Amino acid sequence: MEIIHSSKEIQNRMIAARAEGKRIGFVPTMGALHTGHIALAEKVRPDCDILVLSIFVNPLQFGPSEDLDKYPRTLESDAEKAQAAGVDIIFAPSPREMYPQGFETTVSCGSITTRLEGAARPGHFDGVTTVVLKLFNIVQPHVSVFGQKDAQQVLVIRRMVEDLSIPVELDILPTVRESDGLAMSSRNAYLTSEERLQGPIIQRGLLDAQEAWNRGERNAEQLRKIVLNCYAQSSLMTTEYVSVADYSCVELSGEISSEVLLSVVCRTAVSQTRLIDNSIMKLLD
Ligand code: PAF
Repeated sequence: MEIIHSSKEIQNRMIAARAEGKRIGFVPTMGALHTGHIALAEKVRPDCDILVLSIFVNPLQFGPSEDLDKYPRTLESDAEKAQAAGVDIIFAPSPREMYPQGFETTVSCGSITTRLEGAARPGHFDGVTTVVLKLFNIVQPHVSVFGQKDAQQVLVIRRMVEDLSIPVELDILPTVRESDGLAMSSRNAYLTSEERLQGPIIQRGLLDAQEAWNRGERNAEQLRKIVLNCYAQSSLMTTEYVSVADYSCVELSGEISSEVLLSVVCRTAVSQTRLIDNSIMKLLD
Protein backbone atom coordinates (compact mmCIF):
# COMPACT_ATOMS: atom_id res chain seq x y z
CA MET A 1 0.00 0.00 0.00
CA GLU A 2 1.17 3.49 -0.81
CA ILE A 3 0.48 6.85 0.78
CA ILE A 4 0.26 9.71 -1.73
CA HIS A 5 0.07 13.34 -0.62
CA SER A 6 0.03 15.09 -4.00
CA SER A 7 -3.29 15.50 -5.81
CA LYS A 8 -1.60 15.81 -9.22
CA GLU A 9 0.31 12.58 -8.66
CA ILE A 10 -2.70 10.50 -7.69
CA GLN A 11 -4.85 12.09 -10.42
CA ASN A 12 -2.27 11.17 -13.09
CA ARG A 13 -2.03 7.65 -11.68
CA MET A 14 -5.80 7.21 -11.72
CA ILE A 15 -6.14 8.60 -15.27
CA ALA A 16 -3.54 6.01 -16.37
CA ALA A 17 -5.32 3.23 -14.43
CA ARG A 18 -8.63 4.12 -16.10
CA ALA A 19 -6.95 4.05 -19.52
CA GLU A 20 -5.83 0.49 -18.71
CA GLY A 21 -9.45 -0.43 -17.98
CA LYS A 22 -9.02 -0.65 -14.21
CA ARG A 23 -12.07 -0.04 -12.01
CA ILE A 24 -11.40 2.41 -9.20
CA GLY A 25 -13.17 2.20 -5.84
CA PHE A 26 -13.05 5.11 -3.40
CA VAL A 27 -13.70 5.57 0.32
CA PRO A 28 -13.50 9.23 1.42
CA THR A 29 -12.78 9.64 5.14
CA MET A 30 -11.47 12.15 7.65
CA GLY A 31 -9.26 9.46 9.20
CA ALA A 32 -9.26 8.16 12.78
CA LEU A 33 -10.37 4.96 11.12
CA HIS A 34 -12.69 2.64 13.03
CA THR A 35 -14.56 -0.55 12.18
CA GLY A 36 -17.22 1.48 10.31
CA HIS A 37 -14.61 2.86 7.87
CA ILE A 38 -13.06 -0.58 7.47
CA ALA A 39 -16.50 -1.98 6.62
CA LEU A 40 -16.81 0.70 3.89
CA ALA A 41 -13.47 -0.37 2.42
CA GLU A 42 -14.38 -4.06 2.62
CA LYS A 43 -17.73 -3.41 0.95
CA VAL A 44 -16.19 -1.83 -2.15
CA ARG A 45 -13.02 -3.98 -2.29
CA PRO A 46 -14.58 -6.86 -4.30
CA ASP A 47 -16.14 -4.33 -6.69
CA CYS A 48 -12.90 -2.66 -7.88
CA ASP A 49 -9.35 -3.27 -9.10
CA ILE A 50 -7.79 -0.32 -7.26
CA LEU A 51 -9.09 0.80 -3.88
CA VAL A 52 -8.28 4.36 -2.80
CA LEU A 53 -9.08 5.70 0.67
CA SER A 54 -8.65 9.41 1.35
CA ILE A 55 -7.81 10.85 4.75
CA PHE A 56 -8.44 14.56 4.98
CA VAL A 57 -9.83 16.52 7.91
CA ASN A 58 -11.68 19.02 5.78
CA PRO A 59 -11.64 22.50 7.37
CA LEU A 60 -14.43 23.72 5.07
CA GLN A 61 -17.04 21.51 6.74
CA PHE A 62 -16.33 22.61 10.32
CA GLY A 63 -18.02 25.66 11.85
CA PRO A 64 -15.92 28.24 13.76
CA SER A 65 -16.84 26.78 17.18
CA GLU A 66 -16.54 23.12 16.15
CA ASP A 67 -13.87 20.50 16.82
CA LEU A 68 -11.51 21.01 13.81
CA ASP A 69 -8.41 21.44 15.98
CA LYS A 70 -9.08 18.53 18.30
CA TYR A 71 -10.35 16.15 15.59
CA PRO A 72 -8.12 13.04 15.89
CA ARG A 73 -5.30 12.78 13.34
CA THR A 74 -3.78 9.28 13.42
CA LEU A 75 -2.24 8.64 9.99
CA GLU A 76 0.20 5.95 11.13
CA SER A 77 -2.37 3.65 12.75
CA ASP A 78 -4.91 4.49 10.00
CA ALA A 79 -2.40 3.24 7.41
CA GLU A 80 -2.05 -0.11 9.21
CA LYS A 81 -5.83 -0.55 9.37
CA ALA A 82 -6.33 0.50 5.74
CA GLN A 83 -3.67 -1.92 4.55
CA ALA A 84 -5.30 -4.78 6.47
CA ALA A 85 -8.62 -3.89 4.80
CA GLY A 86 -7.09 -4.22 1.34
CA VAL A 87 -6.69 -0.53 0.50
CA ASP A 88 -4.14 0.00 -2.32
CA ILE A 89 -3.56 3.74 -1.97
CA ILE A 90 -4.16 6.25 0.81
CA PHE A 91 -4.57 9.78 -0.47
CA ALA A 92 -3.63 12.08 2.41
CA PRO A 93 -3.36 15.68 1.19
CA SER A 94 -2.52 18.67 3.37
CA PRO A 95 -5.07 21.50 3.71
CA ARG A 96 -2.79 23.66 1.51
CA GLU A 97 -2.72 20.91 -1.15
CA MET A 98 -6.53 20.84 -1.25
CA TYR A 99 -7.12 24.56 -0.80
CA PRO A 100 -4.13 26.47 -2.21
CA GLN A 101 -3.80 30.23 -2.03
CA GLY A 102 -6.61 31.75 -4.08
CA PHE A 103 -9.05 28.85 -3.77
CA GLU A 104 -12.57 30.31 -4.04
CA THR A 105 -14.98 27.86 -5.68
CA THR A 106 -17.59 26.05 -3.62
CA VAL A 107 -20.39 23.63 -4.42
CA SER A 108 -23.83 24.12 -2.88
CA CYS A 109 -26.71 21.70 -3.32
CA GLY A 110 -29.69 23.90 -2.52
CA SER A 111 -32.56 23.61 -0.08
CA ILE A 112 -31.77 20.16 1.38
CA THR A 113 -28.53 21.60 2.76
CA THR A 114 -30.39 24.22 4.81
CA ARG A 115 -32.40 21.65 6.82
CA LEU A 116 -31.57 19.44 9.83
CA GLU A 117 -27.76 19.24 10.03
CA GLY A 118 -27.54 22.14 7.59
CA ALA A 119 -29.63 24.32 9.92
CA ALA A 120 -27.65 23.19 12.98
CA ARG A 121 -24.29 23.56 11.22
CA PRO A 122 -24.57 26.40 8.65
CA GLY A 123 -22.23 25.88 5.70
CA HIS A 124 -21.41 22.31 6.70
CA PHE A 125 -22.81 20.65 3.58
CA ASP A 126 -21.22 23.17 1.22
CA GLY A 127 -17.92 22.13 2.79
CA VAL A 128 -18.76 18.46 2.32
CA THR A 129 -19.89 18.73 -1.30
CA THR A 130 -16.98 20.97 -2.24
CA VAL A 131 -14.42 18.52 -0.90
CA VAL A 132 -16.23 15.41 -2.17
CA LEU A 133 -16.51 16.78 -5.71
CA LYS A 134 -12.85 17.80 -5.59
CA LEU A 135 -11.88 14.33 -4.33
CA PHE A 136 -14.00 12.72 -7.07
CA ASN A 137 -12.17 14.84 -9.67
CA ILE A 138 -8.78 13.91 -8.23
CA VAL A 139 -9.39 10.18 -7.64
CA GLN A 140 -11.76 9.64 -10.61
CA PRO A 141 -13.58 6.70 -8.99
CA HIS A 142 -16.05 4.45 -10.76
CA VAL A 143 -17.68 3.67 -7.41
CA SER A 144 -17.58 5.46 -4.05
CA VAL A 145 -19.01 4.20 -0.78
CA PHE A 146 -20.61 6.20 2.06
CA GLY A 147 -22.15 5.21 5.39
CA GLN A 148 -25.84 5.56 6.17
CA LYS A 149 -24.92 6.91 9.59
CA ASP A 150 -24.61 10.31 7.89
CA ALA A 151 -27.95 9.88 6.14
CA GLN A 152 -28.42 13.53 5.17
CA GLN A 153 -24.86 13.64 3.82
CA VAL A 154 -25.75 10.68 1.58
CA LEU A 155 -28.89 12.45 0.34
CA VAL A 156 -26.95 15.66 -0.35
CA ILE A 157 -24.17 13.83 -2.21
CA ARG A 158 -26.80 11.94 -4.24
CA ARG A 159 -28.37 15.30 -5.15
CA MET A 160 -24.96 16.63 -6.26
CA VAL A 161 -24.13 13.51 -8.31
CA GLU A 162 -27.52 13.62 -10.00
CA ASP A 163 -27.68 17.39 -10.55
CA LEU A 164 -24.12 17.71 -11.85
CA SER A 165 -24.16 14.42 -13.84
CA ILE A 166 -21.06 13.16 -12.05
CA PRO A 167 -20.06 9.79 -13.51
CA VAL A 168 -19.72 7.86 -10.25
CA GLU A 169 -21.81 5.10 -8.69
CA LEU A 170 -22.71 5.61 -5.04
CA ASP A 171 -22.80 2.61 -2.76
CA ILE A 172 -24.35 3.00 0.73
CA LEU A 173 -23.44 0.85 3.71
CA PRO A 174 -25.88 0.45 6.64
CA THR A 175 -24.71 2.01 9.91
CA VAL A 176 -22.05 -0.05 11.67
CA ARG A 177 -22.61 -0.23 15.45
CA GLU A 178 -20.73 -1.15 18.60
CA SER A 179 -22.01 -4.36 20.23
CA ASP A 180 -24.29 -2.29 22.52
CA GLY A 181 -25.84 -0.39 19.60
CA LEU A 182 -23.96 2.94 19.65
CA ALA A 183 -23.28 3.99 16.05
CA MET A 184 -19.56 3.96 15.31
CA SER A 185 -18.02 7.41 14.96
CA SER A 186 -14.55 8.89 15.31
CA ARG A 187 -16.14 11.35 17.77
CA ASN A 188 -17.02 8.50 20.18
CA ALA A 189 -13.40 8.78 21.31
CA TYR A 190 -14.31 12.08 23.03
CA LEU A 191 -16.87 10.42 25.36
CA THR A 192 -16.18 10.08 29.08
CA SER A 193 -16.64 6.53 30.39
CA GLU A 194 -19.98 7.51 32.01
CA GLU A 195 -21.21 9.09 28.76
CA ARG A 196 -20.12 6.03 26.81
CA LEU A 197 -22.23 3.82 29.11
CA GLN A 198 -25.31 5.86 28.20
CA GLY A 199 -24.50 5.79 24.44
CA PRO A 200 -26.85 2.88 23.55
CA ILE A 201 -29.87 4.97 24.54
CA ILE A 202 -29.54 6.83 21.23
CA GLN A 203 -30.32 3.71 19.23
CA ARG A 204 -32.90 2.64 21.86
CA GLY A 205 -35.00 5.73 21.03
CA LEU A 206 -34.86 4.92 17.32
CA LEU A 207 -35.83 1.29 17.98
CA ASP A 208 -38.76 2.37 20.19
CA ALA A 209 -40.06 4.53 17.32
CA GLN A 210 -39.46 1.72 14.83
CA GLU A 211 -41.48 -0.68 17.03
CA ALA A 212 -44.32 1.84 17.23
CA TRP A 213 -44.15 2.30 13.44
CA ASN A 214 -44.32 -1.48 12.96
CA ARG A 215 -47.43 -1.54 15.20
CA GLY A 216 -49.02 1.02 12.87
CA GLU A 217 -48.17 4.38 14.48
CA ARG A 218 -48.07 6.93 11.64
CA ASN A 219 -48.40 10.21 13.52
CA ALA A 220 -45.22 12.29 13.19
CA GLU A 221 -45.63 14.06 16.55
CA GLN A 222 -46.22 10.75 18.36
CA LEU A 223 -43.12 9.21 16.82
CA ARG A 224 -41.06 12.23 17.86
CA LYS A 225 -42.49 12.03 21.38
CA ILE A 226 -41.57 8.34 21.71
CA VAL A 227 -37.92 9.13 20.95
CA LEU A 228 -37.87 12.19 23.24
CA ASN A 229 -39.39 10.16 26.12
CA CYS A 230 -36.65 7.59 25.74
CA TYR A 231 -33.89 10.25 25.74
CA ALA A 232 -35.40 11.94 28.80
CA GLN A 233 -34.11 8.91 30.77
CA SER A 234 -30.50 9.93 30.12
CA SER A 235 -28.85 12.14 32.73
CA LEU A 236 -25.80 12.78 30.55
CA MET A 237 -27.33 13.74 27.22
CA THR A 238 -29.49 16.55 25.94
CA THR A 239 -31.46 16.18 22.74
CA GLU A 240 -30.56 18.72 20.06
CA TYR A 241 -33.26 17.51 17.69
CA VAL A 242 -35.46 14.58 16.78
CA SER A 243 -36.59 14.89 13.20
CA VAL A 244 -39.29 12.97 11.36
CA ALA A 245 -38.73 14.00 7.76
CA ASP A 246 -39.09 12.92 4.16
CA TYR A 247 -36.11 12.16 1.91
CA SER A 248 -35.72 15.87 1.09
CA CYS A 249 -35.28 16.37 4.83
CA VAL A 250 -38.56 18.33 5.02
CA GLU A 251 -40.10 17.91 8.49
CA LEU A 252 -43.37 15.94 8.47
CA SER A 253 -46.43 16.57 10.63
CA GLY A 254 -49.70 14.72 11.26
CA GLU A 255 -50.34 11.38 9.61
CA ILE A 256 -47.47 10.13 7.47
CA SER A 257 -48.03 8.51 4.11
CA SER A 258 -44.43 8.35 2.88
CA GLU A 259 -41.21 6.70 3.94
CA VAL A 260 -39.52 8.47 6.80
CA LEU A 261 -36.02 9.48 7.73
CA LEU A 262 -35.97 9.59 11.52
CA SER A 263 -32.80 11.41 12.57
CA VAL A 264 -31.56 12.39 15.99
CA VAL A 265 -28.78 14.49 17.45
CA CYS A 266 -27.79 14.37 21.12
CA ARG A 267 -25.11 16.32 22.93
CA THR A 268 -23.36 14.83 25.93
CA ALA A 269 -23.16 16.85 29.14
CA VAL A 270 -19.48 16.56 30.06
CA SER A 271 -17.41 16.19 26.87
CA GLN A 272 -20.03 18.12 24.82
CA THR A 273 -19.83 15.47 22.09
CA ARG A 274 -22.43 15.71 19.35
CA LEU A 275 -23.73 12.23 18.52
CA ILE A 276 -25.92 11.60 15.49
CA ASP A 277 -27.92 8.58 14.42
CA ASN A 278 -30.90 7.75 12.21
CA SER A 279 -33.19 5.08 10.92
CA ILE A 280 -35.35 4.75 7.89
CA MET A 281 -38.93 3.65 8.35
CA LYS A 282 -40.44 2.14 5.27
CA LEU A 283 -44.05 1.56 4.39
CA LEU A 284 -44.83 -2.12 4.20
CA ASP A 285 -46.43 -3.28 0.96
O1 PAF B 1 -18.21 11.56 6.19
C1 PAF B 1 -17.07 12.08 6.27
O2 PAF B 1 -16.16 11.56 6.92
C2 PAF B 1 -16.81 13.39 5.56
O3 PAF B 1 -17.91 14.22 5.58
C3 PAF B 1 -16.30 13.20 4.11
C4 PAF B 1 -17.35 12.54 3.23
C5 PAF B 1 -15.03 12.37 4.11
C6 PAF B 1 -15.97 14.56 3.48
O4 PAF B 1 -15.00 15.23 4.21
